[in-house]
Amino acid sequence: MSILIRGGTVVNADRAFRADVLCDGGRIVAVGDNLEAPAGAQTIDAGGQYVMPGGIDPHTHMNLPFMGTVTADDFFTGTAAGLAGGTTTIIDFVIPNPQQSPLEAYHQWRGWAAKAAGDYTFHVAITWWSDLVHEEMGTLVRDHGVNSFKHFMAYKNAIMADDETLVKSFRRSLELGAIPTVHAENGELVYQLQQDLLKKGLTGPASHPLSRPPAVEAEAANRAIAIANVLQTPLYIVHVSCKESLDAITRARAMGQRVYGEALAGHLLIDESVYQSPDFEFAAGHVMSPPFRSKEHQRALWQGLQGGNLHTTATDHCTFCGEQKAAGRDNFTKIPNGCGGVEERMAVIWDEGVNKGLLTPSEFVRITSTNAAQIFNIYPRKGVIQAGADADIVVWDPAGTRTISAKTQHSKGGFNVFEGRTVQGIPGTTVAAGKVVFHRGELMAVEGAGRHIDRPAFVPVTA
Ligand code: URP
Ligand code: ZN
Ligand code: ZN
Ligand code: ZN
Repeated sequence: MSILIRGGTVVNADRAFRADVLCDGGRIVAVGDNLEAPAGAQTIDAGGQYVMPGGIDPHTHMNLPFMGTVTADDFFTGTAAGLAGGTTTIIDFVIPNPQQSPLEAYHQWRGWAAKAAGDYTFHVAITWWSDLVHEEMGTLVRDHGVNSFKHFMAYKNAIMADDETLVKSFRRSLELGAIPTVHAENGELVYQLQQDLLKKGLTGPASHPLSRPPAVEAEAANRAIAIANVLQTPLYIVHVSCKESLDAITRARAMGQRVYGEALAGHLLIDESVYQSPDFEFAAGHVMSPPFRSKEHQRALWQGLQGGNLHTTATDHCTFCGEQKAAGRDNFTKIPNGCGGVEERMAVIWDEGVNKGLLTPSEFVRITSTNAAQIFNIYPRKGVIQAGADADIVVWDPAGTRTISAKTQHSKGGFNVFEGRTVQGIPGTTVAAGKVVFHRGELMAVEGAGRHIDRPAFVPVTA
C-alpha cells in the first residue's frame, strides 16, 4: 500500500523545504509539490509539521545478558518503544563472551533480534583476541553486513579489551574496511577506585560516579585516539560524557584524524546530582557508565554537537527493573549498569536543542539520523528523505507536548531517567519501511516486522 504525506515541511540535514512525500513498496518514491495520491493510498496530513528521516539510534542494548542478568527490553519491546519515539533503526551490539566465537555470538543475537518491530543492525564487540577472532572478523564483514567493531576499555574481568586486543583489532578493522569503536574508560583504574571505595564502606550508588571520574574516561579516549593515529584507522567513540574526552576528539580532528564522537541524550540532560538521592531505587536507576556528570560537562557536550566535534546522539538504551538494580543494594559495583531512552531521545533533544535555539531542525536531523547513517555506511538508504530511500519517516509535531513518565512509556523496566519532564515537539506519526507504525499516540508495532540491515564495508574487502 502507498502512503502520501501531504503538506509538511521536509527537513533533511542539508535543507528544509515544503514538499509532499509519496511512499510505495517500503521506499520513498517521490518528493515534490502537489503529488497525486494513487488510488487506495493512505494520506497523512502533515500540515504544520516537519517530515524528517526516521531516527537512527546507533547505540542500544536490547536483550543483553549483562552483569548477571538480562535487560528488561527485548528486541520487540525495545524497537517498538523506539518507533513510538520516532526512531526507526537501531544499531545494537553483539557482545561475545571472552573465548566465545564472534560468529556464534552474532548468530545468537540475530536469533534474539528476529522479533524486532523496527530495523536493526549490529556492531560486534571484540572482547578477546585469537586467530579465530581475526578470521571471523573477516567473515562478519564479508558475509554478514557488519562494518563496525566495538571495544570495551572498561569492565575488567568481564568484556574488557586489553591493549593487545585493541591494537590487533583496530589493525584488522582497517584491513577489512570496518570502523573501530570504543567505550572509553580505563577499566583498571575503575576497578581500583571501586575497591578503594568499598574498603572505606562507601557501598551506595553515590560511589558510582566517584569510581569513574572524567580523567578515567579521558585517559582511555586519548589512548584509543593515539592507537588509531599510529595505525591510521578511523575511530568512533561511544557515549562521550565529559569535556576532557571531547577535548581529545577536538584536538585529534584539528590534526586531521578521522575521529567521531557520540553523545547520549541522558548525558546531555541529566546531571550527577541524581546519585545523591537517599532513595536507592532512584539513584540506582541512574547507574550507567560513564556516569552522569556536572552541568559544565553537559554544556560542553552541547557545544560539541553544535561545533561539529560530536556527530551522533544515541541512548545506550539498556534497561533493568528495580529488582535487577537491587542486586547492588549493598555493593554499588553490582548494580547492573544501564538506563533507557530509545523512546525519548528525539523529543528531549528537540526540546532542549531546537526549542532553546542550540540546533536548527536540519542540525537536529543531522545528529539524530543522517550522521549515523553516513558514519556506519547505510546512507542514503537511511538518514534522508529522498526518492529511493527507505520509507522511514517521522512526521514531527513541533507544537505537540508530552510529559514523560514510566507509567506511560512503552519501554520495559518501570523506570525513566526523564521522568516528569514535559517536552514540546513529539512524533505525530512514524512510518517504518512504508507502514504507519505510530499515529497520534497509538502504537501499531508488529513483532518481527523489523529487518536486519546489512552495512557494507567502506572499501572492497580483499583481506
Ligand atoms: O552502563 C552502560 N552504559 N551499560 C551498557 C553497556 C555499555 O557500557 O555501553
Ligand atoms: Zn553465518
Ligand atoms: Zn559503554
Ligand atoms: Zn552501551
